[in-house]
Amino acid sequence: MPTAKNQRTCLAIVLAAGKGTRMKSRLPKPLHMIAGRSLLAHVLNAVAIAGARDMAVVTAARHGPVAEEVERIVPEAQIFEQRKRRGTAHAVLAAKCAIKRGADDILVTFGDTPLIRPSALASLRAALADGASVAVLGFTPADPAGYGRLVIVNGELAAIREENDATPEERRIPLCNGGLMALAGDKALDILERIDDANAKREFYLTDAVAIARDMGLKAVAVEAEENDVRGINTKAQLAEAAAALQHRLRAAAMEAGATLVAPETVFLSADTKLGSDVVIEPYVVFGPGVVVEDGAIIRSFSHLEGAHVGKGARVGPYARLRPGADLGQEVHIGNFVEVKAATIEARAKANHLTYIGDARVGAGTNVGAGTITCNYDGVAKHKTDIGEGAFIGSNSALVAPVKVGDGAYVGTGTVVTKDVPAGALAIARTPQTIKEGWAKRLREVKSLGKNSKARKKPKA
Ligand code: UD1
Ligand code: MG
Repeated sequence: MPTAKNQRTCLAIVLAAGKGTRMKSRLPKPLHMIAGRSLLAHVLNAVAIAGARDMAVVTAARHGPVAEEVERIVPEAQIFEQRKRRGTAHAVLAAKCAIKRGADDILVTFGDTPLIRPSALASLRAALADGASVAVLGFTPADPAGYGRLVIVNGELAAIREENDATPEERRIPLCNGGLMALAGDKALDILERIDDANAKREFYLTDAVAIARDMGLKAVAVEAEENDVRGINTKAQLAEAAAALQHRLRAAAMEAGATLVAPETVFLSADTKLGSDVVIEPYVVFGPGVVVEDGAIIRSFSHLEGAHVGKGARVGPYARLRPGADLGQEVHIGNFVEVKAATIEARAKANHLTYIGDARVGAGTNVGAGTITCNYDGVAKHKTDIGEGAFIGSNSALVAPVKVGDGAYVGTGTVVTKDVPAGALAIARTPQTIKEGWAKRLREVKSLGKNSKARKKPKA
């Protein structure tokens, strides 16, 4: 009895054993980043949304960093090693133990195809639910050269013909193989174990699953996706192209959700960036991972945000840097050349110019003057600065942590605060000013005398 569509179980197998030599990098290909996430993380995220509860990742032998990334993102995923690279079907079979667990649907995805959308994977699963044993993701590229062509007969997928083996007529088929496919769990092993390496490359091709399924009297179908969904990455140039395509999607989604992007093509988002409605993002803003901007906040030009939370109606920038752990309350103002790290800035507090706030709390309504620095690091450890509510920190102050400034306290301009300041008190630590009447005038008179004059000495104070 086939299970109802929404109850079907799903195993996703992610092939990530590629050498990625054309990336010319020490970093394994699946760990390259776009939009703040590794290629592998994008794929794992998509298969999870498409309903895969069981995940298997196939890595090359001794690919520790890839395995670490899998463990970081989906700790329950199982990792399999493909010791020798002998083709895509061979790689899928490395996860044989997982296949044997008997999921209804098996999704085969690639660790270098990060733009795959959950909806495309869901269409593959729907095709299985409708009775197909193999469902292949097809696409119609502007230039089909190099891709396998999908041969459709009577609405079913008859074969995947690699370009080298195709007749001139078959080469005119616009629908190409995107590489990703879904297999019915109860047929998968039977199909996969019949695939051989009788081809020029002596590899076990997953694409052969189509013809084999047909020979077994099973149904194979093609599901069409956008070219971007199946965009594979082999080079740094393709990495940049995929990043650009993803930015396009993310910007469109942010605007759809009600954010105003004044010049969308200059704003760089992370896959997990969350922008509320009526948020305004001015031109040239970069979002690293982990940023949430609440409704009505404005991020002005040339700001960089990462791991930060921006409260409702807050104003950030221009030229601000919010680093991980920056948490801005409602209507906070963080202005130009202000850096905030691991610090909570409570509602309506302001730091408008040239300031570093790290490992700190700034209480509600407090004003932090220009050039204020929290000296959080003593060369060995980090320490906390705690500033209460409604306080006033004069310009060019240094707060040497650990230190506390109480509610409503004042810190005089230029003070180096090394001891706690009680609530409502004034702390001031600077050399008292002296006035020397007429000194400047006397200096100019002396300077204007002849070069060789003996009187060319500075006036006495
Ligand atoms: C594959 C398809 C091709 C399709 C193209 C779309 C096959 C045989 N061919 O070709 O029809 O048009 O994708 O981009 O499937 N991998 C392993 N172990 C292996 C071999 C590959 O893990 O032994 C992984 C790679 O890391 C990669 C994925 O499988 O993530 C696809 O392999 P790749 O060599 O890129 O296949 P293509 O030649 O691009
Ligand atoms: Mg490829």
